[in-house]
Amino acid sequence: MDIDEKRNIFEIQVELNFKLDLVKIFGNRNPVHLEIGCGRGEFIVQKASGNPETNFLGIEIKEKRIKTILRKLDIKVHRNVRLLQLNVDEKIIEFFPEESFRMIYIIHPDPWPKKKHHKNRLIQNTFIDALYKILQPDGILKIATDHEEYGKRIIYKFNNRKDFISKYNEGFTKNPDKDHIETHFEKKKREEGFEPFFMNYRKI
Ligand SMILES: C[S@@+](CC[C@H](N)C(=O)[O-])C[C@H]1O[C@@H](n2cnc3c(N)ncnc32)[C@H](O)[C@@H]1O
Repeated sequence: MDIDEKRNIFEIQVELNFKLDLVKIFGNRNPVHLEIGCGRGEFIVQKASGNPETNFLGIEIKEKRIKTILRKLDIKVHRNVRLLQLNVDEKIIEFFPEESFRMIYIIHPDPWPKKKHHKNRLIQNTFIDALYKILQPDGILKIATDHEEYGKRIIYKFNNRKDFISKYNEGFTKNPDKDHIETHFEKKKREEGFEPFFMNYRKI
């Protein structure tokens, strides 16, 4: 199957002022997990293969990376995957009805290490407000970063919110879950000597 055929099957589009109908898109009412910034797709592709009763929507800003993921998808295995090319920010709530997702994953968001670039970071309070709205009650938001300073800022932000509760007393763990999937970025950073912080927040 060539890339354009795969595009027709797996890729969805958004329109302004038009909320996506996830039941129609996936053709069932199974829970939907969202991954934001899915990169080369190691996580979404493996997760979807192992969890056929869950739907997975991956959003990625870069077309080249969407194409890389498309190449890894197999129509016989990954009927539960859809991809969306989008520059995500707090306006994500314009595209999805409230309480759409059972889980949201943000795995190694771009760290923007220089202070003057911190404003470009994805995880800001307004963005967390938006994620709160599109998560289902008791829905889980999982974040991983190898960048210590960004990690600490994320933990600080969530410590000051009453709408999410952390699974971990310290706000993070360095021990990955049993079903952990190592992404391209995590592998690279571990080889450079960095260890990720894993965060897990439940909507309350
Ligand atoms: C550091 S990489 C991590 C990729 C992957 N999650 C991994 O762990 O290998 C960050 C990814 O997020 C994507 N990204 C950054 N900002 C984004 C945005 N605003 N909306 C969607 N994707 C974004 C980048 O293109 C890149 O693929």
